[in-house]
Amino acid sequence: MSMPSFGVLGSGKGSNFRALAESFKNGTLGCEPAVVISDVEDAGMLTLASEFGIPGRFVCPGPFRTKMSPEAEAEIVLLLREAGVDFVVLAGFMRVIKEPLLQAFPGRILNIHPSLLPLFRGLESWRQALEAGVSETGCTVHLVDAGVDTGEILGQSRVPVLPNDTAHSLHARIQAAEHELYPRMVRVFAERLRKTKLPNH
Ligand code: GRF
Repeated sequence: MSMPSFGVLGSGKGSNFRALAESFKNGTLGCEPAVVISDVEDAGMLTLASEFGIPGRFVCPGPFRTKMSPEAEAEIVLLLREAGVDFVVLAGFMRVIKEPLLQAFPGRILNIHPSLLPLFRGLESWRQALEAGVSETGCTVHLVDAGVDTGEILGQSRVPVLPNDTAHSLHARIQAAEHELYPRMVRVFAERLRKTKLPNH
């Protein structure tokens, strides 16, 4: 397999995508972002994608709030296949992934979550950590399965909770750790794919 490529799915400002794209530009990622897909038409991530010269696509998610319609998910699978990607990276994608996408890329969808899983699954995990009074939290890169934040853990970074932390300051410290962890784990995963020499999907 030549250099593996991946598709990025995200709903937000795309700071993790930026970290990945910069790592690719510096020649340290070991794989290539080939397409960026968002369920939010004016997501900062799509603007960033065009700045980096990577094709960006908006897919209308349909009527549900927490998942995509089956048609939207099928369209995403089609776009990923057209781009010829080997795996998928979720970077702030705010919807649960369902069967069509899971089946199209089994064991090949990565996510980053802002806590030390299995602690603080779900939304605003930094706030959950603050409210629980823990002295340490962090971020986790994991494979995506049918559960919410439940797949195989690939790597974690620890982040201290400081005495005067607010939800905002703690989240910012976790995000800085994410921007270091995600490119490192994506590189490891791409190496793993190259070694297994599995045929593309
Ligand atoms: C990150 O904090 C990540 O942990 C979570 O969504 C956020 C995305 O932020 N899954 P960004 O769009 O990459 O800045």
